[in-house]
Amino acid sequence: GGVTTIDAGYKNTGSCESEITFLDGEKGILRYRGYSIEELAEEADFLEVAYLLIFGELPTKEQHDKFHADIKSKSIVDDDVRKIIDAFPKSAHPMGVLSSLTSALTAFNPSSVNVDSEEDMYNSVVKILGKFPVLVAWTMRKKQGLPLDYGSNTLGYVENVLKMMFKQPNEKYVQNKIIVDALDKLLILHADHEQNCSTSTVRIVGSSHAGLFASLSAGISALWGPLHGGANQAVLEMLEAIKEDGGDTKKYMAKAKDKNDPFRLMGFGHRVYKNFDPRARIIKKAADEVLADLGVEDPILEIAKGLEQEALNDDYFVKRKLYPNVDFYSGIIYRAMGIPTDMFTVMFALGRLPGWIAQWREMRLRKEPIGRPRQLYVGETLRPFKKLEKR
Ligand code: CMC
Repeated sequence: GGVTTIDAGYKNTGSCESEITFLDGEKGILRYRGYSIEELAEEADFLEVAYLLIFGELPTKEQHDKFHADIKSKSIVDDDVRKIIDAFPKSAHPMGVLSSLTSALTAFNPSSVNVDSEEDMYNSVVKILGKFPVLVAWTMRKKQGLPLDYGSNTLGYVENVLKMMFKQPNEKYVQNKIIVDALDKLLILHADHEQNCSTSTVRIVGSSHAGLFASLSAGISALWGPLHGGANQAVLEMLEAIKEDGGDTKKYMAKAKDKNDPFRLMGFGHRVYKNFDPRARIIKKAADEVLADLGVEDPILEIAKGLEQEALNDDYFVKRKLYPNVDFYSGIIYRAMGIPTDMFTVMFALGRLPGWIAQWREMRLRKEPIGRPRQLYVGETLRPFKKLEKR
């Protein structure tokens, strides 16, 4: 028989058991494998967190160095990938390009991983962690008409991402410790968030035993939307629009509350956090520090702070428990780093990559069945067929 109830948006449906990320939306708690997000953001580097998420334990120094060396040794992408990038128009959105390139990787790397072989699994993991930052950097550089190059094998993972993105003509962004640390922190904060839209997508695509790269490509598409990862771009565009419009935050607050107006306050609200988003707290502090350290005075930051204050004291937002989320402040930091607005969601994808991999791996190791929700049919019952000429 069919189902009798539906749960639109899966608001109360658990899709799996997971050991990766713990989230308490009422209390504003987020932990990866039992470690608090606050501590990880402060003390760990992105690669340690990636290892922790994927393999379940923090790496020893030896494991960390081997992991990094293996990732570096797999970073070269097939030369034909350059031709694919060249075929995109300059106007292409970087998320569409990134999703396509990730899918294209399946053409150059056998897509079926033998999940019963630990070595096979490990090799696919380091392969994608090595090649993905190259695709990220090249996606941006293609748009800017800059040469597509590799970074440097002597740099850390995050430093190397910046090197690949910015080496000539923007070398100033490469060797700046403040920027490297801030990006490291941002990537850690984005690294996993249990069964969100893109992660559920990765798991469900992977549950048909499609390969890792194909599953990731689908996750990137899911992340693109403005209600999910695309919110970081949407927030900045919203703040810009408010600035252009004279900085009248009250006017936009009124629009956000008007049920006849489709406008939403981007960067506010969350499906799970009904108290505050612990990531937003860390990011807000980081934004202040980065802007102060770099000597950037951004009027957009003032508008953001104004909006936040108004929303936190507004009945509409208080009643619905709408608080700033991870995306509210991240764009301000990316902007200070010189990253173009349409690349913000790509940076989110770079951060979320280890989480997607960890969730895909867990799903396969637990031998989960194919994901296949049911529905409640509300269409016509049986109707007699009429031939075309008689309709
Ligand atoms: N501005 C104005 N009203 C809002 C907003 C907002 N940003 N978010 C929710 N509401 C209202 C909504 O209209 C509804 O009101 P009512 O009960 O009167 O109909 C109520 O709050 C509940 O909202 P919902 O849409 O039913 O909640 P949801 O859990 O389905 O949606 C959300 C969660 C994040 C999609 C939504 O809050 C939203 O669209 N926010 C703006 C986009 C955004 O910032 N997304 C990033 C999410 S965090 C990053 C990530 O991990 O993806």
